[in-house]
Amino acid sequence: MSEAVVSIRNLNKKYKTGLQALKDVSLDIYRGEIFGLLGPNGAGKTTMINIVAGLTRRTSGQITVFGKDVDREYRFTRSKIGLVQQELSFDPFLSVEETLRTQGGYFGLTNTGPRIEEILKSLSLLDKKKASGRTLSGGMKRRVMIAKALVHDPEIVFLDEPTAGVDVQLRENLWTLVRRMQEMGKTIILTTHYLEEAEALANRIAIINKGSIVLVEEKEKLLADHGARLHDIYRKYVQDEVPV
Ligand SMILES: Nc1ncnc2c1ncn2[C@@H]1O[C@H](COP(=O)(O)OP(=O)(O)O)[C@@H](O)[C@H]1O
Ligand SMILES: [Mg+2]
Repeated sequence: MSEAVVSIRNLNKKYKTGLQALKDVSLDIYRGEIFGLLGPNGAGKTTMINIVAGLTRRTSGQITVFGKDVDREYRFTRSKIGLVQQELSFDPFLSVEETLRTQGGYFGLTNTGPRIEEILKSLSLLDKKKASGRTLSGGMKRRVMIAKALVHDPEIVFLDEPTAGVDVQLRENLWTLVRRMQEMGKTIILTTHYLEEAEALANRIAIINKGSIVLVEEKEKLLADHGARLHDIYRKYVQDEVPV
């Protein structure tokens, strides 16, 4: 088995409200894979991603990124991670270019111009470089979020429900982009509540429900073992919504 770039052991998260969002989660994410974290709304996907990215504090457990603890060596581990958050978050009055330069600044990077050009080009956003955020369409905003996550050239990219609420065209573009990132050697962790999305993209799939990982398996094996019944397995854990 190849090298684990993210390693999670016995992770628990209890919010101040008393809600136990993660229960004894253990997972390894391997270099270069697309890992699909599948689960319904409220399962704990965002909580898990945010803890690994250092945005939310764990209650207990061990988490390392390239062997380093995500709290004790936050600067190192965060620099390895690009996070595309579920919610759109950028200043609507900055231009796309300014947004990306500012983001680079958070990582201590200067002279990000050429890299920004390259990223904008790969996301078909080059002609929007000078446009201010508020003038962009929803799909463009989402691509700017991805561009932001890539500015510091992270080795691991988390995409938190990148296609929730986007149209079919953009969904296909994003899938192409995710595959391209993998070809570039990046490790991708993708959360989704669409079974079809995990099936289309992921090399391995985990199902999380009510804070617990209930299944982790290589996709090919999962499909060989369960085939069409994969849908039924997912439905067993996710009774409260109809996968699209
Ligand atoms: N800041 C918070 N304080 C209290 N509860 C939270 C907070 N953030 C999320 N939760 C709760 O934790 C659970 C998991 O949420 P989340 O990780 O966002 O799930 P998902 O991303 O899978 O939809 C949900 O019940 C949610 O309401
Ligand atoms: Mg979420």
